[in-house]
Amino acid sequence: MYIKQVELANFRSYNSLKLKLTPGINVFYGINGAGKTNILEAIYCISTGHSFRAAEDSILVRHGREAMMVSVDAVDNGIERNFLLEYDSKARKKSLKVNGTKLSRLSRLVGMVPAVLFSPENIQIVKGEPALRRRLLDDMLSQVDNDYFLTLAKYNKEVAHRNYLLKGIKEGRIRRDSLGVWNTQITQNGIRLLLARFSAVENLNNILQNDLTGDKFSIRLAYTSKNYTVSDEQALRESYTAFFAAKFEEEIARSVTLIGPHRDDIEISYNNMPAKSFSSEGQQRLTTILIKLAEGLLIKSRRGVYPVVLLDDFSSELDEPNSGFIGKTFSLFKQILISTTYKENLRGFSPAKEFIIRDGEAGEMY
Ligand SMILES: Nc1ncnc2c1ncn2[C@@H]1O[C@H](COP(=O)(O)OP(=O)(O)OP(=O)(O)O)[C@@H](O)[C@H]1O
Ligand SMILES: [Mg+2]
Repeated sequence: MYIKQVELANFRSYNSLKLKLTPGINVFYGINGAGKTNILEAIYCISTGHSFRAAEDSILVRHGREAMMVSVDAVDNGIERNFLLEYDSKARKKSLKVNGTKLSRLSRLVGMVPAVLFSPENIQIVKGEPALRRRLLDDMLSQVDNDYFLTLAKYNKEVAHRNYLLKGIKEGRIRRDSLGVWNTQITQNGIRLLLARFSAVENLNNILQNDLTGDKFSIRLAYTSKNYTVSDEQALRESYTAFFAAKFEEEIARSVTLIGPHRDDIEISYNNMPAKSFSSEGQQRLTTILIKLAEGLLIKSRRGVYPVVLLDDFSSELDEPNSGFIGKTFSLFKQILISTTYKENLRGFSPAKEFIIRDGEAGEMY
């Protein structure tokens, strides 16, 4: 899939903007605050229904205006479709239309315009808390597997409810034998999520080695849990049963469900050492970009559709060989949109189209 045209109205710093993009590498240059990330953010909103950096939709509406819109024409296998996202901050209403037909739920959008985003704060995937690494897998799997997306939503509600019951038991409001059905549900949905995550991690490791790093260096992910190892359904079920029997009192005391995919982590290693504690900033950034590109290739192999690759602030902190190395992998994708401050940041690869962004306006470079 590639994006042929983006149109913005009252989105962030843009009054109105129309950009014609091409397959291949499209670059947005501009000084800090020019509005480069705003363009990638708008496309991400079309892909997922929400921003990657605004906590609220109203922040996306240009100051002093009431409503914004993002319109994207995307081409997949020769078929062009229009995706239109509108948000009205007065009515607090968001709506999405595909070829003029309104989607009944925003969640139906997930996966229609697949995209992977790398932004500088993604380095926290390597450096930060386990929740960010779990989210990496959850977001990726939600784009390729609608059943995963629905199961995850159900599972999160079930865990919240089970925690509420544990608290009730602790406070003597709820009977100790009222958890049975919730244990069964959480085990079943938890295992469904775990098996999908295990296979995604294996898939990502193969892609990293076979398609991206070769034997130049190694980046590997390892799924880790305190309560089970990567295994099959039967073994996981036994781990759950044993855990619930042994840790019931502790779970009541803490009022928290202590087993399951919401408690796990993914260890990331660079050249066989934990990247979190041993790798340099540049190596951590390289690792994160490559994991994101591997995510893109996984989406391509499972869905048969090329995701649009969005690289925000590319190359800050990557040296010339690493930047060139990443550039070589771009030929594996259909379309890459890159924002960067300086042309010199893009060494070793040639853009198909370049834009200069200045004060909420974009001009093509020839
Ligand atoms: N709702 C809004 N209304 C008007 N302007 C906004 C709104 N939200 C953000 N801006 C403006 O958009 C600009 C930021 O744009 P953006 O984040 O795209 O910059 P950038 O080109 O990516 O810069 P950098 O190189 O620093 O990352 C800022 O000048 C900010 O004031
Ligand atoms: Mg930016």
